[in-house]
Amino acid sequence: MANPKHFLDIDAVSQDGLRAILSRSAELKAARLGQPKGTVDAGRPLDGHVLAMIFEKPSTRTRVSFEIAIRQLGGTALMLSGRDSQLGRGETVPDTARVLSRYVDAIMIRTDDHNKLLELAEYASVPVINGLTDDSHPCQVMADVLTFEEKQGPIAGRTVTWCGDGNNMAVSWIHAAAKLDFELRLACPEQLNPPEKVMAWAKSQGANVVLTEDVEAAVADSACVIADTWVSMGDEEATARHNMLQPYQVNKHLMSLADRDAVFMHCLPAHRNEEVTDEVMDGPQSVIWDEAENRLHAQKGVLAWCFDK
Ligand code: CP
Ligand code: NVA
Repeated sequence: MANPKHFLDIDAVSQDGLRAILSRSAELKAARLGQPKGTVDAGRPLDGHVLAMIFEKPSTRTRVSFEIAIRQLGGTALMLSGRDSQLGRGETVPDTARVLSRYVDAIMIRTDDHNKLLELAEYASVPVINGLTDDSHPCQVMADVLTFEEKQGPIAGRTVTWCGDGNNMAVSWIHAAAKLDFELRLACPEQLNPPEKVMAWAKSQGANVVLTEDVEAAVADSACVIADTWVSMGDEEATARHNMLQPYQVNKHLMSLADRDAVFMHCLPAHRNEEVTDEVMDGPQSVIWDEAENRLHAQKGVLAWCFDK
């Protein structure tokens, strides 16, 4: 059997691969929007395929968008929570990978330790997809790039600004900047910078990734301003994080420094009036609901890519 095509991280996929996922996502979105609700996309490219979804952390968007995506492509999904499966009682990741591979056609996992994802991929004989780890969230950033390009045109050569914690989302944005040739400015307090090894990787790729504590300078003339929660799932020391991140809040003043046509993005869930004010979230520059919808279309692009469909 040929090696399965995993979707583990944006830095592990070629630029052509990422472009193929994005254009397939757009194509499947267009096909879907041309059809009445409740019908499936023409062709059902993943007819009969079953996706197992392992969740060791909470989720709304990732769970629902993957489940609906595989259904609309002709397949079905089943959900395993870490707690209710033997994984939660200590069955090893390699053994779980071997067994699930005998039943299902692909596995999506949301977990804490990135090494669990890598181990699952090593031992699975079916495609494994990263549905978020403590280290990265590539499916979300694929949906975000899809959204950017719908609103602003090609992302290559444009400027995108990340405000806040150098977390898992920031890492996937760094990977995307290197692979898709855009400028990424990361405005983070020094204590919450993205991991040094990811910054070193970006540098080794010749990526245009700039790290600063000056959030106002970072958003100046940017085409896209992004925020994320100050306290990610599994993070501790919430009070210290709030104090450090308060100056990075995306509010009307900060948005006024960006491009006049800049869009505001947030992967959600948001903590309203913490990392972003209601005024910005619900304002005319916000594209957060289209971004959330695009999880569905991007998930389809990723699933189809895993099976060369
Ligand atoms: N953005 C995102 O991954 O949302 P969920 O945590 O609801 O899946
Ligand atoms: N950084 C956030 C993203 C949630 C989708 C977290 O990991 O909790």
